[in-house]
Amino acid sequence: MKRVTKAVFPAAGMGTRFLPATKANPKEMLPIVDKPLIQYAAEEAVAAGITDLIFIIGRTKRAIADHFDKAYELEMELEMKGKTQALEQLRGMLPAHVNCIYIRQAEALGLGHAVLCAEPAVNGEPFVVILADDLIDAEPGVTRQMCDLYDYYQCSVVGVQPVAREETTAYGIVAGDPMSDRLLRMTHIVEKPKPAEAPSNLGVVGRYVLTPRIFHHLRHIGRGAGGELQLTDGIQAMLREQQVLAYRYDGIRYDCGSKVGYLKATVEYAFKHPEVSEEFSAYLKQRLCAPE
Ligand code: UTP
Repeated sequence: MKRVTKAVFPAAGMGTRFLPATKANPKEMLPIVDKPLIQYAAEEAVAAGITDLIFIIGRTKRAIADHFDKAYELEMELEMKGKTQALEQLRGMLPAHVNCIYIRQAEALGLGHAVLCAEPAVNGEPFVVILADDLIDAEPGVTRQMCDLYDYYQCSVVGVQPVAREETTAYGIVAGDPMSDRLLRMTHIVEKPKPAEAPSNLGVVGRYVLTPRIFHHLRHIGRGAGGELQLTDGIQAMLREQQVLAYRYDGIRYDCGSKVGYLKATVEYAFKHPEVSEEFSAYLKQRLCAPE
């Protein structure tokens, strides 16, 4: 049985909701306390046993590669100044057995197109897709939860969560036959339906385990919602020939592609951060009690 060892991180979107912060930097490099979103995503993948990290990069192409590259000069300087803790942090960012691969998406033609760009590196194997701007606090990580399901069922698995009826226009929405408390056998998936047309209230979040058959379908679907090549449409086409499961994951998700979601994540992760939690909690208490 082949375990999932490859993860694709699409990071070539326009990030329009976060301009101007995303003008020269991808949204995935926005920090939550002291780590960029893409690093949380990479750590989640590595904890699930992934060894090949495939980054789809765009306009701001260097930032992510620079982040994961070894920074010899910086390390030397930290060593000379005796800043051992910072040095250890830098050196421990990714384990040595993990490979980073960078692929350019020349034009932001949609998430489906970004995933299709990964085909040469995926090499006909099952793989994970992680959207780093969906930060999910979970133990074990959601990628681990979903890879375990892949190991058992040997089919594609899509992460979902219940969303408010009025928010269906912001998500891919799935319908299916319940298999257990958290699992559905998917019968239908549609991108950004109006609330009245949504087949359920289960919205797709940024975690997928996919069989390589998805590439065939991505090559054959046309442009969908918003004039983009939609991963959702590729999955809907694949459903006709392969089983796909929808998994209501166990964890708390922060939509860091939106300003409010990003701020919520920052507050929650600051509360948990050993270095800043005490001081930050005291500040927030004082701030919330203070008269305007
Ligand atoms: P979003 O739908 O959040 O789009 O993409 P966006 O362009 O990044 O952000 P807004 O809506 O303009 O603010 C979902 C994920 O797909 C990636 C993004 O980087 C993000 O991780 N993506 C999207 C690509 O890699 N390429 C694309 O062409 C589109």
